[in-house]
Amino acid sequence: MKKIKIALIGCGKIANNAHLAPLSVMPDLEIKYAVDLIEERALAAQKQYGAALAITDYHAALKDQEVEAVFVLTPNYSHYTITMDALNAGKHVFCEKPITVNYSLSKEMAETARKQNRILNIGVCNRYHKSVELIKDYVEGGRLGELYHIYCSFRNFRSIPGLGGAFTSKEKSGGGVLIDWGIHFLDLILYITGVKIHTVSANTYNKLGKDISAYVYKDMWAGPPTPDGICDVDDMVSGFIRTSGASISFNGAWAQNIDHNEMFIDFMGDRGGIRLNYGGDFTFYTAENGILQSVKPDYKIPNMYEREDIRFIEAVRQGLKTRSHIDEVLESARLLDAIYESADKRAEIRIG
Ligand SMILES: NC(=O)c1ccc[n+]([C@@H]2O[C@H](COP(=O)([O-])OP(=O)(O)OC[C@H]3O[C@@H](n4cnc5c(N)ncnc54)[C@H](O)[C@@H]3O)[C@@H](O)[C@H]2O)c1
Repeated sequence: MKKIKIALIGCGKIANNAHLAPLSVMPDLEIKYAVDLIEERALAAQKQYGAALAITDYHAALKDQEVEAVFVLTPNYSHYTITMDALNAGKHVFCEKPITVNYSLSKEMAETARKQNRILNIGVCNRYHKSVELIKDYVEGGRLGELYHIYCSFRNFRSIPGLGGAFTSKEKSGGGVLIDWGIHFLDLILYITGVKIHTVSANTYNKLGKDISAYVYKDMWAGPPTPDGICDVDDMVSGFIRTSGASISFNGAWAQNIDHNEMFIDFMGDRGGIRLNYGGDFTFYTAENGILQSVKPDYKIPNMYEREDIRFIEAVRQGLKTRSHIDEVLESARLLDAIYESADKRAEIRIG
């Protein structure tokens, strides 16, 4: 089989923790370019994962006719520009989540992919998690009965990333804990249930990080803080969504004055319920023949990033629309916009 040559743009955390290793051992695939604005990162990726070339300007990779596909693994604010440049150069694109900083730019990206007849997949890795696949089967197979409510929580005690930097700038990241963590949870719920959103009511809060010098923490991922930087995003969010099916409520916090961390989704049905421990296993609760039961299925959990990368390369080879195609993910971007709009207007937002 002909080798697919790719360029990997952005050699930071997600590249090194998730994508470079599986891509480097995929048969019939060559990482032709490792690209990063910070040259040492591109060189390190080249050395460790055998990329042919290490460069700092992604445009050079886009000009290379041999490159068929690119991975956009850069911060949120650059997803739109790099992806559009790549699509317009005739490349297929895998772009990490979130699609970009808002819904209208996300739609433009989807339209450009359609016009250019290229695959554009988004990094919704959890859709490839084994537990998520099993829960989708349980829900669709009716094992929960009528699914009437879903609650999710993504809360941490003191976990604002890189306070004052790109993560806490609305302009650069599009938002805070909602777009960074919440997107994974809400996207999963939409994927598993297939519901259509009707109304959204939410509040966002920027409380603990807004005075950067006063924020107290033990460690800071994506840090250190930028004391004279900006924090104009949500460090907490809470909301309620009505849909064509189950209602959804959620609470999320990068930081809160409660020393309690939790990451789960509860699916409430009238015959059974499921708690998904985010990124891990799940428990199924039901009552049968007058006996309460809780079952913890035991199964292997393959690497979801590897699975999403394999599916992307298959999609490129065969022109397939997979579960992470942008058209399948746009609804999550629309939901995020509606949540932020509801919080800004302090009103319920109706969709569609
Ligand atoms: N799917 C997931 O579970 C998951 C997890 C973490 C991060 N992400 C997403 O991945 C993206 C990257 O996050 P990260 O944590 O790896 O960030 P990071 O800052 O660690 O890495 C990003 C890299 O991109 C480089 N870069 C920025 N602009 C560039 C450009 N124009 N050309 C070339 N290189 C450029 C930076 O120098 C940096 O090395 C974000 O959008 C984030 O939301 C997804």
